[in-house]
Amino acid sequence: MQAGGFISFEGIDGSGKSTQARLLAEALRAAGHEVVLTREPGGSPGAEEIRRLVLEGAPDRWSPETEILLFTAARRDHLEKTIRPALARGAVVITDRFADSTRMYQGISRGDLAGLVDRLHSLMIGIEPDLTFLIDLPAELGLSRAQTRAGTEMRFEDMGLALQERMRAGFLALAKAPRFRVIDGTATQAEIAGRIANLALDHLR
Ligand code: ADP
Ligand code: TYD
Repeated sequence: MQAGGFISFEGIDGSGKSTQARLLAEALRAAGHEVVLTREPGGSPGAEEIRRLVLEGAPDRWSPETEILLFTAARRDHLEKTIRPALARGAVVITDRFADSTRMYQGISRGDLAGLVDRLHSLMIGIEPDLTFLIDLPAELGLSRAQTRAGTEMRFEDMGLALQERMRAGFLALAKAPRFRVIDGTATQAEIAGRIANLALDHLR
C-alpha cells in the first residue's frame, strides 16, 4: 500500500474542489502515479444511486438523522468498492469531498448533530484522508460560482449565504488538524493547481 495516498478536497459549494481535484489527478499521473479520481456523495455504483436520493428533490425530503445515515451509507459503499481496493494496490485516491463534508453539512446546518455524525463515522467509516486540501474563499464568491452551474442537484446549494459563512468558519476550525492544507481559493486556477501539486508531491515523497 502506498503510504499516505488518500487525498481529499473540501470546501463550500463553488470553491473550486472539482476543478482542482481533476488538475491534481493530471499532475500526479504525469509524475508517474496511478490515480483514482472520485467524489462524494458517489464514487461507486451503489453510492451514485444514493447520490440521487440525497441531492435531488425537496429540501425537507429527509429528516436530518435519515440524511446522515444516507450519506454514511454512500460513504461506506464508496470505501468498500472503490477507495480501499485502490489504496491496497498502491494507487493514489483523490476524492472530491469526504467525511469533513458530513461534519459540516449534516453536523451543523440543521441543528447541532456533530456528535451523531462523529459517532456514526467512527462506527462505520473509521478512517480519515492522509492529506486534505481545504479550498477557502468568501461565501459570496462560492455561491456566485456555484449558481452559474445549472442542474437538478440543488438541495444544499439553496441554503443561503449565512449558512455558507458558518460552514466556511467550521471548515477552517476543522483545518487545525495536521492533515489539512488551507488553500486560498481566490487565486487563479493555475496558481492554485501549482501550489496543490507541490504540496501533494512533497507529501507523497
Ligand atoms: P466545487 O467543486 O467546489 O463546487 P468547481 O470546481 O465546480 O467547484 O468550480 C465552480 C465554478 O467556479 C466553475 O464554473 C469553475 O470553472 C469556476 N472556478 C473554479 N476555480 C476557479 C478559480 N480559481 N477562479 C475562478 N473561477 C473558478
Ligand atoms: P458536490 O457535487 O461536491 O457539490 P459542489 O460541487 O457544489 O461542492 O456535492 C453536492 C452537495 O452535497 C454539496 O452541496 C454538499 C453536499 N454534501 C453533504 O451535504 N454531505 C456530505 O457528506 C457530502 C459528501 C456532500
